[in-house]
Formats: sequence, C-alpha cells, structure tokens
Amino acid sequence: MKNSQKMRFENKVVFITGAGGGIGRETALAFAREGASVVATDISEKANQETAKLIEDEGGKVLAVTVDVTDSKSIQEALNQTIAKYGKLDFAFNNAGVENKVEPLHEVDEEEFKRVVNIDLTGVFLCMKYQLPLLLKNGSGSIVNTASIAGVTGFTGGASYGAAKHGVIGLTKTAALDYAAKGIRVNAICPSVVETEMIKRYNKDGSMDALKANLPIGRFGRVEEIAAAVLWLCSDESEFIVGQSLILDGGQLAGF
Ligand SMILES: NC(=O)c1ccc[n+]([C@@H]2O[C@H](COP(=O)([O-])OP(=O)(O)OC[C@H]3O[C@@H](n4cnc5c(N)ncnc54)[C@H](O)[C@@H]3O)[C@@H](O)[C@H]2O)c1
Repeated sequence: MKNSQKMRFENKVVFITGAGGGIGRETALAFAREGASVVATDISEKANQETAKLIEDEGGKVLAVTVDVTDSKSIQEALNQTIAKYGKLDFAFNNAGVENKVEPLHEVDEEEFKRVVNIDLTGVFLCMKYQLPLLLKNGSGSIVNTASIAGVTGFTGGASYGAAKHGVIGLTKTAALDYAAKGIRVNAICPSVVETEMIKRYNKDGSMDALKANLPIGRFGRVEEIAAAVLWLCSDESEFIVGQSLILDGGQLAGF
C-alpha cells in the first residue's frame, strides 16, 4: 500500500483501541496507508478481525489482538504481543468507548454509571499506564485519547458519558505534563457527532436530525476527518502541541 503523497509513519508502531468500529477502524486504516505497523485491538474479536483484513487487503501491516480496555491484563498482554512482533511502541490511540443511555441523573443506574466510566475513562487510564513505560523506553512518542465535545460541555441526559469524557481531558492534561520533558506528547480529540454505529444507536429515534440541520457546517463529521486529526497529532508536524484537547465539531461550539 503506497500513498505517493505522504508516508509519515514508516517504521512506526501504533496501538489502537476500539479498532473494530467507526473512528478506530478508519484511523487504523489511515495509519497503515502511511506505512505504520498497526496493533488493532477491540473487545469484539470479529469486528477487530474485519479491520485487520481490510488493512491486509490493502497490503498494510497489522497485528489484531482482542482487548477489553477495562481489563488491565488483556491490555498488558496485547502490549507484550506488540513488543514481541514489532519490538517497540511509538504511538497510541486510546479510542474505545461506549455511549450512555440518555436519562436524567437521578434515573441513572449505579452499575450503568460505573460501566460507562470504567470503559470510557478508566480504560484510557489503564491503557496509558501500560503504554507509557514502552514509550519511555522508546525515548519518544505520542498518545491521542478520544474524549468528545461532551468532555468540554454538558449535554442533557449525559451524566456518565459526560463525566467520563471530562475525565479523559483531565487525564490527558496531567499525563502531558508528566511526560512532556521526556519527549512524549499526550493530547486528546473532542469530536462532536461523527457518523458511526455509535451515532446510529444514539439516533434511533431521529432526535439528532434537528441538531444536524442547525450545525454551522450543516452535516455531521466523517470518520476520515477524525482519523486525519489523529495522524497529525502523532506526526512531527504537531510537535509543539502538548496537553491539548482538539475540538473537531464543524463549528458546533463556536457560537456558544
Ligand atoms: N461517533 C461520535 O459521534 C463520537 C463523538 C465523540 C466521541 N466519540 C468517541 O469516539 C470513540 C469511538 O466511537 P465510535 O463512534 O467509533 O463508536 P463505535 O461504537 O463505532 O466503535 C467503538 C468501538 O469500541 C469497542 N469497544 C467498546 N467497549 C470496549 C471495551 N471495553 N474494550 C475495547 N473495545 C471496546 C467497540 O467494540 C467498537 O468497535 C468513543 O470513545 C466515543 O465515545 C464518538
């Protein structure tokens, strides 16, 4: 697979969570197209294998490992396999996540709150905890965590998701400070609505169609647009970007 214009990631190794779906899958493909060796991980073995096949069909390099980001052993095992196969780690895209059931806070089931926070926030902590020693060994690297615009503003009925995504931004900032002087950059992305399976589940009742019509850009985001931002945050072109949470929202928050 050759992209004649840009091959920014030859001899680089990237670890991606949630690679079996929308944003994660597209980002895995984009990295592979620019020469990276991709470690695709997801809790769904089937979806993850599909991503791996898409990469292989294009001639890309991929290792597919089933990982539940709430299970630190499975993260460590996948990182061990990364080192065994590729010898190092350069980048991580901690992207796995789930939506919450939209409901007012007093109706949120305690176990459901814990489940969402465990996947969307603790999962990012656990991934970084075990990725960072490998990046320190490497002497450089870049981590991108997936937050959301729900990490910078509230939304009605979004208690657990909003709490988790605000937490991802806090984790990103603190990790960025801890490792900036060691050549490791940590940033987050904050997409608004991007057309993926998650949004199809969210918008079953069509309630988001009115939002789409009111967006400055007049449409939801595309996975390719999010992938492009992640690759840029891992590239040398963004070397001065540290601890930021990049809002990718087609102008949605600009008017507030
Ligand atoms: N789509 C959007 O509009 C949007 C907006 C802002 C932020 N996000 C965030 O982007 C990320 C990706 O979302 P998406 O829209 O591509 O969703 P998606 O549902 O299409 O993909 C998410 C992937 O994460 C995997 N996953 C779920 N739980 C996991 C776990 N415990 N361990 C490992 N993998 C797990 C799923 O199997 C799935 O393949 C999420 O963190 C989401 O919160 C999405």
